[in-house]
Amino acid sequence: MSRNSLAIVILAAGQGTRMKSGKPKVMHELAGLPMIRWLIKTAEKLEPQKIIVVAGPGMPELLSAAKPHQSVIQEVRNGTAGALRVAMPALKGFKGDVLVILGDAPLVSEKTLQALIETRRDNDAGLAVLGAEVCCADGLGRLIIGKSGNLKKIVEHKDATPAERESNLINTGAFCIDGMRLAGWLDKVKNNNAAREYYITDLPEIAAKDGAEARVHITYDTGEVQGCNSRSDLAALESTLQKRLRAEIMDSGVTMLDPSTVTLHHDTVFGRDVIIEPNVFFGPGVEVGAGSVIRAFSHIEGAKIGRDVAIGPFARLRPGADIGAESRIGNFVEVKQSRIGRRSKINHLAYVGDATLGDDVNFSAGAITVNYDGFEKHHTTIGKGVMIGSNVNLVAPVTIDDGAFIAAGSTITEDVSADALAIGRGVAEVREGWAAEYRKRKEALKKKLGGGKKKK
Ligand code: UD1
Ligand code: CA
Repeated sequence: MSRNSLAIVILAAGQGTRMKSGKPKVMHELAGLPMIRWLIKTAEKLEPQKIIVVAGPGMPELLSAAKPHQSVIQEVRNGTAGALRVAMPALKGFKGDVLVILGDAPLVSEKTLQALIETRRDNDAGLAVLGAEVCCADGLGRLIIGKSGNLKKIVEHKDATPAERESNLINTGAFCIDGMRLAGWLDKVKNNNAAREYYITDLPEIAAKDGAEARVHITYDTGEVQGCNSRSDLAALESTLQKRLRAEIMDSGVTMLDPSTVTLHHDTVFGRDVIIEPNVFFGPGVEVGAGSVIRAFSHIEGAKIGRDVAIGPFARLRPGADIGAESRIGNFVEVKQSRIGRRSKINHLAYVGDATLGDDVNFSAGAITVNYDGFEKHHTTIGKGVMIGSNVNLVAPVTIDDGAFIAAGSTITEDVSADALAIGRGVAEVREGWAAEYRKRKEALKKKLGGGKKKK
């Protein structure tokens, strides 16, 4: 398709009242990316000459999200045709196809939109509408098909007769319209309907009067045409999208033991032969290297995981965690803003924050970096091959040099030189026979007081 023959308008001026939200509907996220960004990503793949986003007044976050594309503001929200009218000045002189898509149906695919555009072109139609057969058409516009398979008209649910409401063939909201004739047809749209709004769905009849045919392209993937009007719809869209993302990563060579329990972010990146156990959450900015295993119930965000690493079960990697190849991060371990060298082990119950660990470090159970003094964060540096014993507190800023050994239970406040032993703990006193004596005394006391009767 030549780049100059297509313009895309995304209608997103609605606040989305039923979302009961302080932000515009299209700014709600799916897999961490606002709906509008999903649509823009798809639109960009079609390589149009321009993309125009129709926003409502007072939506600065939407204007930023639309960048670098142009946005126009529909001051009065008076219907989908009203929204398209607002975009017309930006389309002045444009003679190609105008593809209109709805901001609240963000999962439509590039392939389907391409097919919609071709339906208009191949039939030399005035416009083509994307339809779908859905099981519940409540609230949606119905496509009324003519004898020659043409699209006679679209009736909105509110205006439909009981017989028309029987139909499950719905308008998904995506239109491809001949740009040469669009402006003239839009001028003819009236608001004589139940909602007193200017409906884009009037265009097929208006085009017919002008001697132009409307056609339908039907998609059988109902997931991609799901709309979002409520939080429940948002959850349903998330579920569809997660399935899509999981399928993509499995296709790229990742094994998932129970895919439906794994939550991905739109930007999660995996190498080959990664294995993901059930109930794992990926937040933004995660990269997992080839051959690594993410064990069950791990929560990972902003983390870079090298190759052949084992994470979890029950591990938490927070932003800035950078885990070197072949390392192990075990259960109930939290790592934040820290670089962990290769083959290092933090196997159980530890906190590593604002630290640099060299290769081959062993960071034992219960050990922590004490990185925060109540005012500022401080750094801990641990060299190669260091052994940090159990229940060690490393009070930052502190440096433990290569090969040093920190004895269990130590609180370290000063730097430790290479290959040294640091031990800082109360020395246990051992009293021989004390426990046996103690038990004997207790027994004797019990006999004296209890008189032999057992209490329940
Ligand atoms: C619309 C269609 C309906 C279709 C359904 C599919 C019309 C008249 N109806 O209904 O046939 O089955 O989508 O989901 O087109 N918008 C504006 N400005 C406005 C009004 C709407 O920009 O003045 C935008 C909204 O932000 C939204 C989209 O257009 O992204 C659809 O509007 P909405 O009110 O949700 O239309 P539906 O009632 O869902
Ligand atoms: Ca809608």
